[in-house]
Amino acid sequence: MILLGAPGAGKGTVAKGLVDHVGVTHLSTGDMLRAAVKAGTEVGKQAQSFMDRGALVPDEVMVALIAERVSQDDCLSESGANRFLLDGFPRTLPQADALDERGLGPQAVIYLDVPTDIIVRRLTGRRSCPDCGTPFHVDFKPPKADGVCDVCEGTLVHRADDQEGPIRKRLDTYTAQTAPLVQRYADVLLTIDGNQAPGAVLEAVLAAVTGRSPE
Ligand code: AP5
Ligand code: MG
Repeated sequence: MILLGAPGAGKGTVAKGLVDHVGVTHLSTGDMLRAAVKAGTEVGKQAQSFMDRGALVPDEVMVALIAERVSQDDCLSESGANRFLLDGFPRTLPQADALDERGLGPQAVIYLDVPTDIIVRRLTGRRSCPDCGTPFHVDFKPPKADGVCDVCEGTLVHRADDQEGPIRKRLDTYTAQTAPLVQRYADVLLTIDGNQAPGAVLEAVLAAVTGRSPE
């Protein structure tokens, strides 16, 4: 499965819920890149300047990163079939081609549809856990203790790209390079209204994925 949506649409938030409810390996390329930057790896060094200014990391870097990651055991079901949830990949048509070339075309693409003005408010107020990736929001999803992750007690951060300039750039990049994927995946697209409370969004996603009606 693929989670598709603009920056701040709620991909990471929905992914955490899907992991808990349907038990699937969650691959967030943004989280993977931030971990690489923190660890000072070669990929991290290549990626950092693109990420900080809200631009996309080059396709060849991203395709190599994902190709290596999906070959690991936790991306296979017990019967040996591919089973993982992509969040933030593919983000360009060439990245989608790279999945197809490897026989990894998605069974379902969950598209979180959220208006731009809502997105800007979500991103400026987001605080993220750098250790486990859980997203919080100062108004919409505050942590129990100020600045501390509810899940792993990591120290929450305000991402460098969650400032007004990079947010605008990320939205432009999304419109130009990622939004065409909605059309590309029309046959397997599950469109979800992402402008609802987080629990309602997750409920709608679970209903779409499992084919049952929302409660
Ligand atoms: P990435 O980390 O993937 O960033 P993004 O796509 O911009 O998405 P976000 O993580 O910002 O948002 P999200 O949809 O996960 O929303 P969240 O659940 O956190 O990528 C970062 C960078 O890495 C890119 O800019 C690029 O440079 C690079 N990169 C990554 N993948 C790449 C690729 N494939 N190719 C090239 N470059 C790549 O929610 C946002 C906020 O809203 C949170 O505060 C949350 O608490 C709140 N919230 C969520 N849902 C709701 C709700 N229903 N109601 C109210 N608030 C909500
Ligand atoms: Mg995310």
